[in-house]
Amino acid sequence: MRVNVVVNGEKRQADNVWEGESLLYVLRERLGLAGSKNACEQGECGSCTVYLDGVPVCSCLVAAGQAEGREVRTVEGLADGDRLDPIQESFVECGAVQCGFCTPGLLVTAHDLVARTTDPSDAEIREALAGNLCRCTGYEKILDAVRLAASRKENA
Ligand code: FES
Ligand code: FES
Repeated sequence: MRVNVVVNGEKRQADNVWEGESLLYVLRERLGLAGSKNACEQGECGSCTVYLDGVPVCSCLVAAGQAEGREVRTVEGLADGDRLDPIQESFVECGAVQCGFCTPGLLVTAHDLVARTTDPSDAEIREALAGNLCRCTGYEKILDAVRLAASRKENA
């Protein structure tokens, strides 16, 4: 089947999509957007998180056909041209990236949290990120990065 989606503001089309194919597969293998990562393909790790109509979802759990006609924003769509989004800058500044495999999903989830919450508490940050697993960082620097991005937004 053919699937039409708007990805990062651009109309895209994928052909010969199999009924059981995931949105993650379409993004990575058919549309060349390899930012979203495939770590578990079971909805457990969050590394494949993208916005679907403005709501973060695990794209490995979304059938490609479910995305027909909808808007997807991936980690590639967070930056404004060459300018990183503030959440991306904060991850870099705080050293919140090690192997980086979890990072794209964490960035999308954290971007959503910072967009909809003013001054999130540590408990709120931890809860928001609970579906995003990281094997490297121990999470502290990720929490620092989210706190930094949230404080910058508040003081902007
Ligand atoms: S690859 Fe989708 S949740 Fe792990
Ligand atoms: S930085 Fe390696 S899994 Fe998070």
